[in-house]
Amino acid sequence: MIITMTINGGQRTVEVNTPTSLLNVLRDRLELEGSKQACEQGECGSCSVVLDGELVCSCLVMATDCDGSTLTTVEGLGDEDTLHPVQQALVQAGGVQCGFCTPGFVVAAAALFDEHPHPESDVIKEELAGNICRCTGYGAILRALEELAARP
Ligand code: FES
Ligand code: FES
Repeated sequence: MIITMTINGGQRTVEVNTPTSLLNVLRDRLELEGSKQACEQGECGSCSVVLDGELVCSCLVMATDCDGSTLTTVEGLGDEDTLHPVQQALVQAGGVQCGFCTPGFVVAAAALFDEHPHPESDVIKEELAGNICRCTGYGAILRALEELAARP
Protein backbone atom coordinates (compact mmCIF):
# COMPACT_ATOMS: atom_id res chain seq x y z
CA MET A 1 0.00 0.00 0.00
CA ILE A 2 1.25 3.45 -0.84
CA ILE A 3 0.81 5.90 2.00
CA THR A 4 1.24 9.64 1.82
CA MET A 5 1.64 11.78 4.92
CA THR A 6 2.43 15.40 5.59
CA ILE A 7 5.37 15.22 7.97
CA ASN A 8 6.84 18.37 9.50
CA GLY A 9 5.24 20.41 6.75
CA GLY A 10 6.42 18.33 3.78
CA GLN A 11 4.67 15.58 1.86
CA ARG A 12 6.24 12.13 2.14
CA THR A 13 5.17 9.01 0.28
CA VAL A 14 6.25 5.49 1.11
CA GLU A 15 5.22 1.98 0.08
CA VAL A 16 4.36 -0.30 2.98
CA ASN A 17 3.82 -3.94 2.08
CA THR A 18 3.86 -5.62 5.48
CA PRO A 19 2.07 -4.65 8.70
CA THR A 20 4.39 -2.33 10.56
CA SER A 21 4.24 0.58 12.97
CA LEU A 22 4.40 4.24 12.14
CA LEU A 23 7.55 4.34 14.27
CA ASN A 24 9.28 1.77 12.07
CA VAL A 25 8.32 3.64 8.91
CA LEU A 26 9.55 6.95 10.32
CA ARG A 27 12.87 5.50 11.41
CA ASP A 28 13.64 2.84 8.82
CA ARG A 29 12.02 4.21 5.67
CA LEU A 30 11.94 7.96 6.07
CA GLU A 31 15.21 8.55 7.93
CA LEU A 32 13.44 10.33 10.78
CA GLU A 33 15.28 8.69 13.64
CA GLY A 34 14.49 11.29 16.28
CA SER A 35 11.52 9.23 17.44
CA LYS A 36 13.13 6.50 19.52
CA GLN A 37 12.48 2.79 19.58
CA ALA A 38 12.53 1.78 23.23
CA CYS A 39 9.74 -0.30 24.79
CA GLU A 40 7.60 -0.59 21.61
CA GLN A 41 4.64 -1.22 23.90
CA GLY A 42 3.25 2.25 24.47
CA GLU A 43 4.81 2.45 27.92
CA CYS A 44 7.69 4.92 27.67
CA GLY A 45 6.78 7.78 25.33
CA SER A 46 10.16 7.74 23.57
CA CYS A 47 8.42 7.44 20.21
CA SER A 48 5.95 10.31 20.78
CA VAL A 49 4.69 12.21 17.72
CA VAL A 50 1.74 14.49 17.10
CA LEU A 51 -0.61 12.76 14.67
CA ASP A 52 -3.53 14.80 13.35
CA GLY A 53 -3.33 17.02 16.41
CA GLU A 54 -3.09 14.23 18.99
CA LEU A 55 -0.02 13.17 20.94
CA VAL A 56 0.46 9.45 20.26
CA CYS A 57 3.03 6.71 20.72
CA SER A 58 4.04 5.99 17.16
CA CYS A 59 5.00 2.42 18.12
CA LEU A 60 1.29 1.70 18.67
CA VAL A 61 0.02 3.17 15.40
CA MET A 62 -0.14 1.07 12.24
CA ALA A 63 1.59 2.89 9.42
CA THR A 64 -1.17 2.03 6.97
CA ASP A 65 -3.67 3.87 9.17
CA CYS A 66 -1.72 7.10 8.61
CA ASP A 67 -2.42 7.58 4.91
CA GLY A 68 -3.48 11.22 4.49
CA SER A 69 -2.43 12.16 8.02
CA THR A 70 -0.45 15.15 9.24
CA LEU A 71 2.41 14.51 11.63
CA THR A 72 4.92 16.44 13.66
CA THR A 73 8.00 14.61 14.85
CA VAL A 74 10.79 15.96 17.01
CA GLU A 75 12.68 16.89 13.84
CA GLY A 76 9.90 19.34 13.00
CA LEU A 77 10.09 21.31 16.23
CA GLY A 78 13.37 23.10 15.81
CA ASP A 79 16.94 22.82 14.71
CA GLU A 80 20.30 23.80 16.16
CA ASP A 81 19.85 27.42 15.11
CA THR A 82 16.16 27.82 15.92
CA LEU A 83 15.10 25.78 18.91
CA HIS A 84 11.47 25.37 19.94
CA PRO A 85 10.82 27.31 23.19
CA VAL A 86 10.52 23.97 25.01
CA GLN A 87 13.93 22.92 23.70
CA GLN A 88 15.41 26.29 24.72
CA ALA A 89 13.95 25.98 28.21
CA LEU A 90 15.28 22.44 28.65
CA VAL A 91 18.77 23.43 27.52
CA GLN A 92 18.85 26.50 29.74
CA ALA A 93 17.73 24.57 32.83
CA GLY A 94 19.94 21.54 32.18
CA GLY A 95 16.81 19.44 31.66
CA VAL A 96 18.25 17.43 28.82
CA GLN A 97 18.39 13.73 29.53
CA CYS A 98 19.57 10.89 27.31
CA GLY A 99 18.92 10.53 23.61
CA PHE A 100 16.23 7.93 24.20
CA CYS A 101 13.86 9.78 26.50
CA THR A 102 14.56 13.42 25.59
CA PRO A 103 12.90 13.47 22.14
CA GLY A 104 9.67 12.10 23.59
CA PHE A 105 9.69 14.61 26.44
CA VAL A 106 10.27 17.42 23.93
CA VAL A 107 7.42 16.35 21.64
CA ALA A 108 5.00 15.86 24.54
CA ALA A 109 5.92 19.16 26.20
CA ALA A 110 5.76 21.07 22.92
CA ALA A 111 2.28 19.64 22.27
CA LEU A 112 1.21 20.84 25.72
CA PHE A 113 2.71 24.34 25.43
CA ASP A 114 1.45 24.85 21.90
CA GLU A 115 -2.06 24.29 23.28
CA HIS A 116 -1.65 25.84 26.76
CA PRO A 117 1.25 28.34 26.99
CA HIS A 118 1.04 28.68 30.80
CA PRO A 119 0.19 25.28 32.27
CA GLU A 120 0.15 24.70 36.03
CA SER A 121 2.76 22.36 37.45
CA ASP A 122 0.17 19.63 38.03
CA VAL A 123 -0.90 19.84 34.41
CA ILE A 124 2.70 19.57 33.21
CA LYS A 125 3.20 16.45 35.35
CA GLU A 126 -0.05 14.94 34.13
CA GLU A 127 0.68 15.61 30.46
CA LEU A 128 4.18 14.15 30.71
CA ALA A 129 3.09 11.14 32.74
CA GLY A 130 3.40 8.93 29.66
CA ASN A 131 7.07 9.80 29.23
CA ILE A 132 9.44 7.66 31.23
CA CYS A 133 13.04 8.34 32.18
CA ARG A 134 14.41 5.10 33.54
CA CYS A 135 16.95 7.12 35.53
CA THR A 136 14.16 9.15 37.21
CA GLY A 137 15.72 12.41 36.05
CA TYR A 138 12.51 14.39 36.11
CA GLY A 139 13.50 17.29 38.38
CA ALA A 140 15.33 19.46 35.87
CA ILE A 141 12.76 18.77 33.17
CA LEU A 142 9.94 19.87 35.43
CA ARG A 143 11.85 22.97 36.57
CA ALA A 144 12.56 23.92 32.95
CA LEU A 145 8.92 23.62 31.96
CA GLU A 146 7.68 25.45 35.06
CA GLU A 147 10.04 28.32 34.22
CA LEU A 148 8.76 28.35 30.65
CA ALA A 149 5.15 28.33 31.86
CA ALA A 150 5.84 31.31 34.13
CA ARG A 151 7.20 33.46 31.31
CA PRO A 152 4.86 36.29 30.30
S1 FES B 1 8.73 2.98 22.17
FE1 FES B 1 6.70 3.65 21.93
S2 FES B 1 6.03 4.01 23.95
FE2 FES B 1 7.99 3.16 24.23
S1 FES C 1 15.96 7.25 30.18
FE1 FES C 1 16.91 8.94 29.31
S2 FES C 1 18.06 9.82 30.92
FE2 FES C 1 16.86 8.27 31.86
